[in-house]
Amino acid sequence: MKRQLHLNLFIHSRGHHEAAWRHPAASPLPLTDIRYYTDLAQRAEAALFDSIFFADQLALGGDVAQAPRTWLEPITALAAIAMATSRIGLIATASTTYTEPFNLARQFASIDHISNGRAAWNIVTSWLASAAENYGGAGQVSHADRYARGEEFMAVVKALWDSWGADAVVDNRATGLYARPERIRSIDHRGEFYTVAGPLNLPRCPQGRPVLVQAGSSDTGRRFAARHADAVFTAHMAKETAQEFYADLKRLAGAEGRRPEQVLILPGLSPMIAASEAEAQRLTREVNDLSDPEVGRKRLSGRFGGHDFSYLPLDRPLSPEDFPDPDTVEAARSRTEVILNLVKRDKPTLRQLLGYLAGARGHFVTAGTPEQIADLIEDWFTGGAADGFNIMPPLLPAQLDVFSAEVIPILQRRGLFRTEYSGTMLREHYGLPWPASVFDDPAFNGELKGAAAGI
Ligand SMILES: Cc1cc2nc3c(=O)[nH]c(=O)nc-3n(C[C@H](O)[C@H](O)[C@H](O)COP(=O)(O)O)c2cc1C
Repeated sequence: MKRQLHLNLFIHSRGHHEAAWRHPAASPLPLTDIRYYTDLAQRAEAALFDSIFFADQLALGGDVAQAPRTWLEPITALAAIAMATSRIGLIATASTTYTEPFNLARQFASIDHISNGRAAWNIVTSWLASAAENYGGAGQVSHADRYARGEEFMAVVKALWDSWGADAVVDNRATGLYARPERIRSIDHRGEFYTVAGPLNLPRCPQGRPVLVQAGSSDTGRRFAARHADAVFTAHMAKETAQEFYADLKRLAGAEGRRPEQVLILPGLSPMIAASEAEAQRLTREVNDLSDPEVGRKRLSGRFGGHDFSYLPLDRPLSPEDFPDPDTVEAARSRTEVILNLVKRDKPTLRQLLGYLAGARGHFVTAGTPEQIADLIEDWFTGGAADGFNIMPPLLPAQLDVFSAEVIPILQRRGLFRTEYSGTMLREHYGLPWPASVFDDPAFNGELKGAAAGI
């Protein structure tokens, strides 16, 4: 069979355009209504998407007056969506900086059980400076320290998920044996940041462990992804930078001893689709006209760690000197580079830059016919830029429906996308191997240590 595309639906607000929430075509439901999210997940499942995804921030944004900055806590929302769907993968964002590994290992293992093997975790280290103020107020943890902590966090959660053999639970009412203690082990982790005895208080997940997704694109972020991620989200404003990222990450994965095809790379794509290109562009203008440049200015400041852009006029061409050096930014470093590359290449005015970022915050934004969008997807997919896409409809659910009804059938006719699900678990949709279990390792002597002996 031809190499197959992977499609993830990134659910955000009433669409990814920052003014989508005001548009008449956007959903009438409140953003705290779970039916809005279950309905979107069901639509995506009917269209055979691999997965849906929720991002997350751990603080209320400063622009709540003009933009919806509230959403349901993603892991909780996934539990509800799991009950309303049966095949689609479920990805929630959670931070390694502001929780304990035992908490997250347990929550994602629970979602994997609840969904019968469809859970995935988007691992973030949390770039938002204001999040630190909600967790102890000791100031933002530096970029390097966040990743150092994240590395140890991953060692702990992986060991916890691997602390049960797949055959540990016997549940034999007649003999009175519930679980085989020799198939459960403590982890006895003592590191720089975490001390965790283990084992996890939950049997092994249906997928062995949840699928791991990552979205850091800085050098440190790329190495982290190459070591841990099954799928990688990334933001690009041009095919060339996506190709550079793709080649680099596959190379890094190989250097970590992994098979490059087992790390899927999914750039963001926000397409406004209509029967003619002119109509798609008109729709884009219509949504752009609803957005406020001052909201965009505040968001830009957040991206650059709170840098003050208030003195910049809206209509003079920008130069790189108008921005702080990305190396000094402790927030989302890779996105600041994406923005600076655009400034160097196109010399937009601040108004133009904010207009572009309003579309999908630095991801690839385009407007066209279904055929044009399918061509673009095929071109990136066969041209070494993507294994699939993180689809970010500018308006929800309207533009998801157009994508599903008009673009997906073209991709199917070209043999690039599934016409039915062949498995039930996300690992199967993504074509990923099952993680090895320490209990299947011939060197493992089954010895029970520490806290596990007392269970
Ligand atoms: C598609 C996508 C989604 C992301 N979602 C989140 C998110 O929900 N929460 C968050 O804190 N960071 C999110 N990020 C940011 C990255 O995970 C990462 O923390 C950030 O880019 C900083 O790391 P870097 O400097 O290595 O790029 C996302 C990035 C991308 C490309």
